Amino acid sequence: MSGRLSGLGVGPGDPELITVKALRRLRDAAVVAYPAPEAGASFARRIVARWLSPAQREIVIAVPMESARFPAQRVYDDAAARLAEELDAGHDVAVLCQGDPFFYGSFMYLFARLAERFRVEVVPGVSSLGASAAAAQWPLAARLDTLSVLPAPVLLCRLAEAEAVAIIKLGRHFAKVRAVLQRLGLAAAARYVEHASLAGERVLPLDQVSEAEVPYFSMILLHRRGVALR
Ligand SMILES: C[S@@+](CC[C@H](N)C(=O)[O-])C[C@H]1O[C@@H](n2cnc3c(N)ncnc32)[C@H](O)[C@@H]1O
Repeated sequence: MSGRLSGLGVGPGDPELITVKALRRLRDAAVVAYPAPEAGASFARRIVARWLSPAQREIVIAVPMESARFPAQRVYDDAAARLAEELDAGHDVAVLCQGDPFFYGSFMYLFARLAERFRVEVVPGVSSLGASAAAAQWPLAARLDTLSVLPAPVLLCRLAEAEAVAIIKLGRHFAKVRAVLQRLGLAAAARYVEHASLAGERVLPLDQVSEAEVPYFSMILLHRRGVALR
């Protein structure tokens, strides 16, 4: 019998935010695969490093991080073929996904290639959206609010209609995003969150952020009118 593929959401960064179920699947897997930048370590692996065993085999999926090259079809074709060999051999494979696998997670590209052939389980994780809201102590949306998640590169064309917003994939786009929000008079209604749930977590008003230091793992939360909780 072929093995089971599990897409494990391992949470936003703090190892305590992994779910009991994801941890159980992780421990049971013979093979653990994870995306990593072409140069550098895997964030998802770092989150679960304390639970990995030397008996588990690891497969690194080297992913180009430039958005212009997404989706990196060849990388996922090759990775899916490699994982299929393991699954055909009857080995259970866990694929680590930072945050939640189906919230902008690269696991979805493997899912698309393997779900018709193999048993696949998706274990949801705590996403960066929830973690950033918790870090900023900033309720995301309430009642009839609509919440938009806007990747920074497509910000301008969508912001006009947005009410409650999470702007993700900030990194080098930060200066442009801040300038747009300032021009629209929205900067004061926003909070910057970096490395939510990790030791280096920072929550700042936009005017206190140094644009040269904005990492990939950061986002801006914005609410045009403030969340009406009462
Ligand atoms: C490709 S998406 C992956 C999202 C992930 N699957 C999730 O569920 O949160 C990467 C973006 O998520 C946001 N992000 C992920 N982890 C974060 C964290 N710990 N703190 C702040 N933002 C984070 C950043 O905006 C980053 O550019």
